[in-house]
Amino acid sequence: MHTIFKLTRAELTFILIDKTQLLEKNSDEDIVNTVATDCMCGDVNIFFSEDDETNLTTGEMEIMIAEETSRGRGIATESLWLMMRYAIENLKVDIFEAKILEQNIASLALFKDKMGYHERRFHEVFREHWLEYRLCDGADYRQKIVVNSQHAITTKYE
Ligand SMILES: CC(C)(COP(=O)(O)OP(=O)(O)OC[C@H]1O[C@@H](n2cnc3c(N)ncnc32)[C@H](O)[C@@H]1OP(=O)(O)O)[C@@H](O)C(=O)NCCC(=O)NCCS
Repeated sequence: MHTIFKLTRAELTFILIDKTQLLEKNSDEDIVNTVATDCMCGDVNIFFSEDDETNLTTGEMEIMIAEETSRGRGIATESLWLMMRYAIENLKVDIFEAKILEQNIASLALFKDKMGYHERRFHEVFREHWLEYRLCDGADYRQKIVVNSQHAITTKYE
């Protein structure tokens, strides 16, 4: 579903492919890569910052399912779990964070109800809910990421 597109010290982006569309267009593995760009449906990003005092690294999550027809099918949920799995296995992340505008009901439900992010604060100026998912709050948090991404396969991209 994902292709690692860009990796810098401060930001990581996965481009999201709608697998259903991909399989509809062609089931031949050899041709899949050539048509994958036609089936892009969005992207998921993580932006890193480190607190000098605590030495904790925060990864701020952002997601966009741009294609309306790809929404409501669990792609955002799966993508976030996979991105979080990649981050805890390959990068040092202690806290995942999401900043969601107060009127964005769908994203609030996604991060809070579906993924288990907690409200850290409501930012009055930006009218945003600042949510977080802290690995340091207990082993259960890491385990939940692993369980929800157990189908993940990572391969080298040429
Ligand atoms: C929010 C968004 C990422 C959801 O993507 P999606 O692939 O449709 O989400 P999923 O199918 O994985 O849904 C996961 C959960 O999100 C919530 N959700 C998704 N769409 C919703 C909607 N229209 N209304 C209310 N809740 C919604 C539900 O809790 C859902 O769980 P459920 O299926 O068990 O009810 C997508 O609508 C989007 O890209 N919106 C614009 C960009 C944005 O707001 N990004 C977030 C800022 S970081």
